[in-house]
Amino acid sequence: MEKLRVGVIFGGMSSEREVSLNSGRNVYDNLDREAYAPVPLFMDNAGRLWLIPWQLVSQNTTVDISERLEKEAKHVAYEDLKDLIDFAFIALHGKYGDDGCIQGLLELLGLPFTGPGVLASALGMDKHIQQKILQAEGLGVPRSMLVTEEMWAERREEVERDFEEKFGYPFVIKPPREGSSIGVAIIRERGETGAAVEEALRWDNAALAEEFLDGIEFSSIVLDEENGPVPLSLTEIHPQSDFFTYNDKYMPGRCRKFTPPKNIPADLINVIKKDVVRAFRALGFRCYGRIDGFVLKDGRVLITDPNSSSGMAPSSFFFEQAAENGMLPSMVLSRLIEIALRVHREKLGPL
Ligand SMILES: Nc1ncnc2c1ncn2[C@@H]1O[C@H](COP(=O)(O)OP(=O)(O)O)[C@@H](O)[C@H]1O
Ligand SMILES: [Mg+2]
Repeated sequence: MEKLRVGVIFGGMSSEREVSLNSGRNVYDNLDREAYAPVPLFMDNAGRLWLIPWQLVSQNTTVDISERLEKEAKHVAYEDLKDLIDFAFIALHGKYGDDGCIQGLLELLGLPFTGPGVLASALGMDKHIQQKILQAEGLGVPRSMLVTEEMWAERREEVERDFEEKFGYPFVIKPPREGSSIGVAIIRERGETGAAVEEALRWDNAALAEEFLDGIEFSSIVLDEENGPVPLSLTEIHPQSDFFTYNDKYMPGRCRKFTPPKNIPADLINVIKKDVVRAFRALGFRCYGRIDGFVLKDGRVLITDPNSSSGMAPSSFFFEQAAENGMLPSMVLSRLIEIALRVHREKLGPL
């Protein structure tokens, strides 16, 4: 039987392209060669796709790869993608990668892919809109306030007063559509607000302010099994910094993680597992997702960061939770591809 040609797409145009390189390289390395023929596809920072040789997959940074594309890689026009692959494993993160853009392109080409479709991917990226949907579903979300560029330019003092009244200190500012903790800040006194809003506005046209959550952070990978979404397992996160920063996420050994959780009582673990499945469904996620949140000291469970994709580096939640379920990296990757093929087979119109 012909092996399924799996295009592993990584790199990309977002602030998370180095994270994506780690994901893509690891997916490429771990795909089961008995079942799949992996095809490494690098997206450069102009959104062009390149078929790259394995020597380029193992480069340290996307800059190293980009410098060698002209000589060592082959540019692939979008229309020609179907000649090269049967399936797309999206290892892109952030803007244009897990926000619906590449998903729309793949739908037009008729190629099945990992993760949800256009709308759910876009929702997974937008922290402001997803909070409204989760709230309507009756799920706990942080109290928040969106400040647009115009509001900030026209009535900054009023906005700062509103923050103070609504949240007190500390509170959190973040860009609504970013990832990897980029642009996230904890505001502990009034003087810190301005710089944090400006920083968030470097990444998006609005800044999202949230109440500060004091509790235990968790992350749950959910797989879209035939009988409905199922959490793989649950990880309890203890960052070494003030919060779960970029370095805590990606520097080896920087963060304590417990899979399954050590300090969350069993009854609350059950509540979390139910809530992450409800969030998955409410946002229309398909294939898989990573739903993150907090258990507060009073026992309330809040969903703070539902993601329509997950980091796929060796130490990611995805592989940790798969291991807890007895699945080696290659096994869970195969599982994901099987699930994706099923949901694309069953879809009517775009996913
Ligand atoms: N409202 C909040 N209260 C406390 N900590 C927060 C809050 N929002 C975010 N954080 C911290 O910042 C990290 C990154 O924020 P998050 O909303 O998850 O954005 P990202 O999409 O970048 O992961 C979280 O993992 C958490 O540690
Ligand atoms: Mg997060």
